Amino acid sequence: MDLDGFRFPLGTETLGLSWQPRERRTGTLNLKSCELQHPWSDRLVRSELAALPLAETIAYPFQDRALDALGVYHGLDSGHVLLTAGSDNGIGLVVDALVRPVGRLLLQEPAFEAWRHYAELRGVRVTGVPGLTGAPPTADPAPLLDALRDAPEPTVAAVTNPGSPSGLLYPPSTMRRFAGTARDLGHLLVIDEAYGDFVHTSHAPLVAEFPNVVVVHSYSKAFALAGLRIAALLAHPALREHLGRFRPENAVGAPGVALLERLAPQRERWQEIWRDVRAVRQEFTDRVLSTHPGWRALQPGANFVTFWSPDPATADAARDHLAAHRVRIRSLSDLPGLRGCFRVSLADRPTMERVARLLDAVADRTRPRVDVPADNAPTAPRQAAHHGERPY
Ligand SMILES: Cc1ncc(COP(=O)(O)O)c(C=O)c1O
Repeated sequence: MDLDGFRFPLGTETLGLSWQPRERRTGTLNLKSCELQHPWSDRLVRSELAALPLAETIAYPFQDRALDALGVYHGLDSGHVLLTAGSDNGIGLVVDALVRPVGRLLLQEPAFEAWRHYAELRGVRVTGVPGLTGAPPTADPAPLLDALRDAPEPTVAAVTNPGSPSGLLYPPSTMRRFAGTARDLGHLLVIDEAYGDFVHTSHAPLVAEFPNVVVVHSYSKAFALAGLRIAALLAHPALREHLGRFRPENAVGAPGVALLERLAPQRERWQEIWRDVRAVRQEFTDRVLSTHPGWRALQPGANFVTFWSPDPATADAARDHLAAHRVRIRSLSDLPGLRGCFRVSLADRPTMERVARLLDAVADRTRPRVDVPADNAPTAPRQAAHHGERPY
């Protein structure tokens, strides 16, 4: 690289990769990045944050009590839990510590962008494996099972469940099958469960049963801690020891550790919040589909709804229409398997009423016939929950 005449060899790994620092968009509602936006979680986190002793925020953190609380939360011994500075950092660590030694990553797609980014940054070969099939999309385990069977041993495979950004979910039996197949063939399976808590899904029991399973568990979404940058890797104690040698705790800040210690034991309050998020989701979905009966909502979703329209142009049209009204959502139409899809993350009821009203104005160019397999059908419009007045 040439720095105004000063030359230094920086390698070529970063040259094809982009860097876009988060941009402040004052006055714009962000329904794109799926942070938890709910009045009850705001209240809970605000009160715990306000009660933190100064010493627990400005001194180097001790993690022991938070790890104990998280062990209880995940139903594992705390020796299975390793904190990282968000799952972004956890994914980078997985790539450094687990993928780089074997040089191969099977990535079920679409997946969180960080997987491909950090793998490519480290010069690791990524093989994308389709995780979706059909229109509207459904989750398809077969390509990953085939890829595990065909992969040279040993390989690392990464799966996101529930899917992000699809919102589709593999049942526990399928996840066990992935784990067992990977173990029998000498592969590691890494499961990103960033949205699991919203839909009663935890893969921690697989970590207890299968030594080859690692879970990436973000606290950004379910515990509304995105700004604290805190997540955990759940793994067999020997794997955790190997991962720990990369010293991820040195990037984890004290406020995040202290908050986790206080928030993890409050499971019942969180369950109430997640239940209400599901209710908001159902009401918003019903409301949108009542105007757009040809659209589908991919199930079960999480604190977001992924809509599919039979007209592939609708996804970008919805994004652009909302952007014109200063609401950011994400069109997914350019992602493998998600043509015609766009994703809206959820906020409080009045906000979602406003967004639903804005979506009323989005028209499909055409209304082609929709073929939905009867046993795998995403949600079609239901009767509005309340007669006369709409829930929003
Ligand atoms: C599937 C998935 N994993 C991980 C993350 C990021 O989590 P964190 O905030 O812990 O880095 C996201 C965020 O959008 C995500 O969608």
